[in-house]
Amino acid sequence: MSEKRKILLSGIQPSGTMHIGNYFGAIRQFVEMQDQYDSRVFIADLHAITTVQNKEKLSESILNVAMDYIACGLDPEKMILFKQSDAPEVAELAWYFNCITTMAYLERATAYKDANQKAKEVTVGLFDYPMLMAADILIQDADVVPVGADQKQHVEYARDTAQKFNNIYGETFKIPEPMILKEVAIVPGTDGRKMSKSYGNTIPLFGTDEEIKKAVMSIVTDSKTPEDLKDPEVCNIFALHKLFSNDKELKDLRLRYEKGGLGYKESKDMLLAEILAYIGPMREKRKEYENNPEKVLEILKNGREKVRVKIMEKMKEVRKNIGLELYE
Ligand code: TRP
Repeated sequence: MSEKRKILLSGIQPSGTMHIGNYFGAIRQFVEMQDQYDSRVFIADLHAITTVQNKEKLSESILNVAMDYIACGLDPEKMILFKQSDAPEVAELAWYFNCITTMAYLERATAYKDANQKAKEVTVGLFDYPMLMAADILIQDADVVPVGADQKQHVEYARDTAQKFNNIYGETFKIPEPMILKEVAIVPGTDGRKMSKSYGNTIPLFGTDEEIKKAVMSIVTDSKTPEDLKDPEVCNIFALHKLFSNDKELKDLRLRYEKGGLGYKESKDMLLAEILAYIGPMREKRKEYENNPEKVLEILKNGREKVRVKIMEKMKEVRKNIGLELYE
């Protein structure tokens, strides 16, 4: 039965502190899909070393991402959570892809073009990022690859590369489909723009109570007094209430905005309480793993075992089709 489910694969680059926008924009969707798909999610540490070249920082961020995702509800009993460097065969496969890929083709990648404009020097690793990502995807025979819109081109590179390989060496790889994660709701940041680390307008998911409170209290509003009548649809606080309240609560709140008498401070206090209640269980879970990091390591080691079984066969077939496999 489980064999019938479609294979879902996605990678997560370890990057900084997770915020409410990340949760509603992507993580929650991974969590929702883990029952429906044969899901495999990995921490893209081999990709991360194109930018992070500090031993302590890298190890720490790998663990942090793992804890964040488990705390948010990825369940290693239902899916495979692993770290990319525990499947070093992807680097081998990326090499095979390198040998059938042209420079000109990789030069057309948007991510490379951007990096090239910003940085004086681009490493070979960064240039080759799409081939490692193609290997991640194709080595697992993934059917669907949920990613943000910015990663769609990379999935197309994986599709092209699968086709190219199949043309040269015979049918070997499945052609994966991108699944572009819709922003279920555009999560506004404290200044009303989209919540994003680069705007500095985030509400941290696993911050301290103080940090979360500070972020909520800094939400930008107009200067209406509590008595003034207010339009909830233009209020940044109300926009966030929408993520945390049920229909009835929202309806009541909407009325109070429209009638006047509800001040922004009160609305913020309510929002803070809602946020803390909503993320309370996730924070508790994360605490438990922070206090017992060996549990996280155990989960990753298990993931390694499971994923290796899956990819070994595939790599045998690949080597055989290329003409490298002469004996068992
Ligand atoms: N490039 C992706 C990102 O930055 C991470 C990633 C690496 C990935 N390998 C992948 C995503 C394979 C999906 C499938 O978000």
